[in-house]
Amino acid sequence: MTKKLNILIVAGDGIGPEVTSEAVRVLKSVAEMGGYDFQFRHELIGGVAIDAHGTPLPQATLHAALASDAVLLGAVGHNKFNALPPGERPEAGLLQIRAALGGFANLRPSFAWPGLSSNSPLRPEVVEGADILFVRELLGGLYFGQPRQWDKQANAAWNTMRYTRDEVVRVAKVAFELAGKRRKKVTSVDKANVLEVSQLWRATVTEVAQQYPGVALEHQYVDAMAMHIMNTPRSFDVVLTENLFGDILSDEAGVITGSLGMLPSATIGGKVDLYEPVHGSAPDIAGKGIANPIGAILTAAMLLRHSAGLDQDADAIEAAVKKVLDQGYRTADLARGDKSAQVLSTTDMGSRVAAALNEIIDRRQAMHAV
Ligand code: IPM
Ligand code: MN
Repeated sequence: MTKKLNILIVAGDGIGPEVTSEAVRVLKSVAEMGGYDFQFRHELIGGVAIDAHGTPLPQATLHAALASDAVLLGAVGHNKFNALPPGERPEAGLLQIRAALGGFANLRPSFAWPGLSSNSPLRPEVVEGADILFVRELLGGLYFGQPRQWDKQANAAWNTMRYTRDEVVRVAKVAFELAGKRRKKVTSVDKANVLEVSQLWRATVTEVAQQYPGVALEHQYVDAMAMHIMNTPRSFDVVLTENLFGDILSDEAGVITGSLGMLPSATIGGKVDLYEPVHGSAPDIAGKGIANPIGAILTAAMLLRHSAGLDQDADAIEAAVKKVLDQGYRTADLARGDKSAQVLSTTDMGSRVAAALNEIIDRRQAMHAV
């Protein structure tokens, strides 16, 4: 049986196209080695879509996304749109595609890669062994809550952090299910000492926890959590958060490896799953060929695992990244505090990972043939 997969690529803005090309290179390698049929289609999103069509999410992109098996996104955002209201900016295209695809659980693993601890501004003994999985609610809270407005006459502006019980239940279940397969601990983050919406969040998560007696639940206030992630990153397993808290804390967790460029994400639970690295469009380094493609490559691994059931190939991609890092290869963002690092361009890092991947899959196939 040939594994067939239709993947929509929306590379977007800034470094999006550069890093996405390397993720596609790796996916093509997997397809070739495994004899799978992966079809890639490309569409526009974000600032490049505004430039071409006057809208950050053209209909053609939306239709192609809904017709695909998985969507792989690069990044959106460009400084030249900074004066526009939120609804017209490149970021609106991302929020619209998230809403249309319907995935509500955004999985953001943050892992202390062995050998990268010298790149973290934290002490090695603090970060080594850290392995956090953020489960960020992606379709509610301040990002989507109504009312929202900037009332110029009143010189006032407001957004609404709104959650329904059902929205909390569904994302909490994802967190507990995943924790059950990991170290069996969920840390739920809120601001229940101040916000009603957080009180609903906490009460609901506590209720859902009763269905998962094998998983421990702790609650943390978001301000305290921001400190705990820096102080004791190893003490967390699955971290369950609402939308904005998860946005902020998952960037903070980039400090564990010292670079946002290492972080992948998968958004599941909707009609079509959406895969995007956590880093943004990074306009300051776009086009220079120095961006780290590993976040995008690890995102491709998550795609294979969650949307195609190709766990072995996903494992092989992660093993290939580890191998290349073990050999001392780095992109510029990973070379801090490591004088022996061999700094590679975006494309050279991508080809190193693809080469290591081919070797790993070759060896696996040879073992099966025996
Ligand atoms: C992220 C990004 C997006 C978000 C922006 C670009 C809309 O920061 O994926 O973390 O806030 O969700
Ligand atoms: Mn973010």
